[in-house]
Amino acid sequence: MEKIVLVTGASSGIGKSIAYLLLEKKYVVYGTSRNPKKISSKFNFPLLKLEVSDKNSIKSVVKKIIDKHSRIDILINNAGVGITGSIEETPEAEIINNFKINFFGPIYLIKSVLPVMRKNKFGRIINICSIAGYSGLPFRGIYSASKSSLILVTESLRMELNKSNIKLTTVDPGDVKTDISTRRFHTPLVKDSPYYDTYKRNLNTINSHVFKGKKPEFIANKVFKILNKNNPKPHYLVGSIIEKLSVFLKIFLPQKLYEKLLMMFYKL
Ligand SMILES: NC(=O)c1ccc[n+]([C@@H]2O[C@H](COP(=O)([O-])OP(=O)(O)OC[C@H]3O[C@@H](n4cnc5c(N)ncnc54)[C@H](OP(=O)(O)O)[C@@H]3O)[C@@H](O)[C@H]2O)c1
Repeated sequence: MEKIVLVTGASSGIGKSIAYLLLEKKYVVYGTSRNPKKISSKFNFPLLKLEVSDKNSIKSVVKKIIDKHSRIDILINNAGVGITGSIEETPEAEIINNFKINFFGPIYLIKSVLPVMRKNKFGRIINICSIAGYSGLPFRGIYSASKSSLILVTESLRMELNKSNIKLTTVDPGDVKTDISTRRFHTPLVKDSPYYDTYKRNLNTINSHVFKGKKPEFIANKVFKILNKNNPKPHYLVGSIIEKLSVFLKIFLPQKLYEKLLMMFYKL
């Protein structure tokens, strides 16, 4: 039987690539966007309206798919946004907004699909997190924290759902060449800020890394491979050797040495 899959944030970037690859592999794909009306004619799969920070919007998307198919087999929690700035200067409202989109929304989506997955004795959930979620990166602390939180919750859920046939995993990309930098919230650069020089330099670095990142199709292929595994690992790092190595170095190096290396990398 064809698998029913919901990919959040399928209007662009990684989500769009995942949705198209799964469509090609004969999955029944539902994507989402905040503004599907404007763009849905350009897509070969249904694009449902979803604002991931709004519980009612999540309820309505999940209900639409269950009403039609009586199941959702796979949830790809992909919708997400970036945020940059020093912790001191990032507005509180933007911190909360980032957590609503990158953390609370995905959790509510998981809570909404679990009952139907349990009823059907099958479920796969892939949370698109980030290699940035394994370290508190400078000027990306809030993004690191929201992704890190979802990484940890995935670990908890895996154990809580151990007896069911519902498997969760994270896919943690390094830099991926999408338009994420044009859409993320950038705390404004302020001339007399103590962070002006370091933040300005790092903002350029962060943005330039995205342009040099892997293609979104690379992440989509990894997701497809994971969906074919009976017993996926908790986490899959998908990035350059240096990006993946950074996660292992954090585990094995003395803490201060690791911190020094990160600061050298970011010229702090
Ligand atoms: N690009 C990278 O370097 C990178 C690296 C690691 C992890 N990631 C993660 O990968 C995921 C996809 O990122 P991307 O690079 O493909 O970025 P993207 O091209 O900007 O795509 C983001 C998607 O999320 C949706 N979205 C944004 N805000 C939303 C909201 N409030 N409610 C519902 N949907 C929302 C957007 O849809 P609409 O605008 O149509 O609503 C869009 O489809 C994100 O979770 C991101 O954090 C990206």
